[in-house]
Amino acid sequence: MQTLWSDLDHYIESHLLPSDPALDQIIDNTNQHGLSNHLAVAPNQGMLLQMLIQMNRCKRVLELGTFAGYSTIWLAKGLPQDGYLLTIEGRESHALVAKANIEQAHIDTHIDLKMGMAADVLNALPVDTAPFDFIFIDADKGSYPEYLELTLKFSRSGSIIVLDNVIRNGDILDPHNHKPSITGIRQTFEALKNHERIASCTALQTVGSKGHDGFAIAIVK
Ligand code: DHB
Ligand code: MG
Repeated sequence: MQTLWSDLDHYIESHLLPSDPALDQIIDNTNQHGLSNHLAVAPNQGMLLQMLIQMNRCKRVLELGTFAGYSTIWLAKGLPQDGYLLTIEGRESHALVAKANIEQAHIDTHIDLKMGMAADVLNALPVDTAPFDFIFIDADKGSYPEYLELTLKFSRSGSIIVLDNVIRNGDILDPHNHKPSITGIRQTFEALKNHERIASCTALQTVGSKGHDGFAIAIVK
């Protein structure tokens, strides 16, 4: 099935997505640094995130887990010139590649890349930090429950939270799988269920060039 899913993603990309040399260059540069682009969002997923930002006229975006900056550029391109994007990456080697990739993309909107564990960076933000309109959680999966609570502190009524990789090829249903990355996702589903600060929430399974995975999407109450 994977070949068919990948072929269909390429079909979608070639018909519907604009060719973007800046994004192609990020993929090349990431490969050249020996990092696997498998951890990045697929182009059609990046476009979905960008469109969600545009549909909701978001101005402030928070991303946890920059990796090499590929999703960051998709998110940033959904923002107006006076927008602001804060992206946080915990691994220095990845942050350095992301920094170069973001600089090369020449994005008009202000992108702030902070190196450090997402929880530490968020806890160190000034208390008067304006809320973020759109939050993309894509860092270490074992910490998703903590990231959900932390990012809620930096959100407002109507903020959108998207969580990547919440299906993991179905592993979340495997009772024998107790990896922190999987238990973290299960705990996140439990936390999202009837959460007092979440107005609506759903999750969608995705198949494509990145395998079988999914997004969860929540609107803050
Ligand atoms: C992994 C992490 C991701 O954020 C992703 O989109 C795909 C895979 C991983 O750690 O394996
Ligand atoms: Mg991801």
